[in-house]
This record gives sequence, structure tokens and C-alpha cells, in this order.
Amino acid sequence: MHASKKVLLVLMLGAASGPPIAPALAGDAAAARAKVRTLCQNCHGENGVAVLPGAANLSGQQKEYLRLQLRAYRSGSRHNDQMSIIAKTLTDADIEDLSEWYSAIKVTVEMP
Ligand code: HEC
Repeated sequence: MHASKKVLLVLMLGAASGPPIAPALAGDAAAARAKVRTLCQNCHGENGVAVLPGAANLSGQQKEYLRLQLRAYRSGSRHNDQMSIIAKTLTDADIEDLSEWYSAIKVTVEMP
């Protein structure tokens, strides 16, 4: 393959119809969607594609990574003026739901 080689990477972390990792996914997804709409989408988008230039894209990110970052903002070990305030309002269940929401969004990536 040459420089034009393209790699297509598909992240599929089963949303609503995925494998039964989380039995209560439907309820959690509804709770997460409501939280995303009120707390996150103005900067990160409901679909996890950032709408604020300084915010991160979250869709398709590792669930464990999202969980760790949200906990870090909440504990103060990671600081950002906006995220630190928002994270302090989140319960453990919120962090779980939100991490599940953004990690379950399917993204495709194509190398340049
Ligand atoms: C006012 C805008 C704003 C809102 C609202 C907001 N964020 Fe953020 N978020 C940011 C910014 C800016 C960053 C980058 C912060 C930094 O540099 O540490 C960020 C970073 C993050 C990160 C770390 C990303 C990474 O790649 O390390 C996560 C996870 C995250 N936000 C989740 C959320 C969730 C979940 C919500 C809703 C509960 C939310 N954010 C609401 C602005 C926002």
C-alpha cells in the first residue's frame, strides 16, 4: 500500500441494541440523553462532536477514559474552569450514564 492507503476504523460499542453488557441500558440512555441535552450539548454536542472550538470531541471515546476524566475534573486532579464546575454537579451514576452515552456513539475515522 502507498501513501494513499486509507484505513477505515469503525468503533462499535453497541448502543441500544448492543450485547447485554448493561441490562438497564434503555433507562440509562434516556437519563443520559436528558443530562446531555441540559448539561453538555452546548459545548460537546448531543452527538459528541464539539461545537465549541476549545472543547473535545467525545463520540466514540473509550468509556473508561471518559469516566476517568469526569472523575478527575470532579476531584480537582484535572482542572478546567468550565468542566470543573460542571463535573462537581455529577453523581457517580451520572458519570456512568454520560460515559456510556458518548462512548456508545459510533464513529468512523479515515486516515488522510
Ligand atoms: C461550557 C462548555 C462545556 C460544557 C457545558 C461541558 N464541557 Fe466538557 N469540556 C469543555 C472544555 C472546554 C473541555 C476541555 C477542557 C480541558 O482542556 O481540560 C472539556 C473537556 C471534557 C472532557 C475531557 C475530554 C478529553 O479528551 O480529555 C470530558 C470527558 C467532558 N468534557 C465531558 C463533558 C460532559 C459529560 C459534559 C456534560 C455533563 C460536559 N463536558 C459539559 C467544555 C464544556
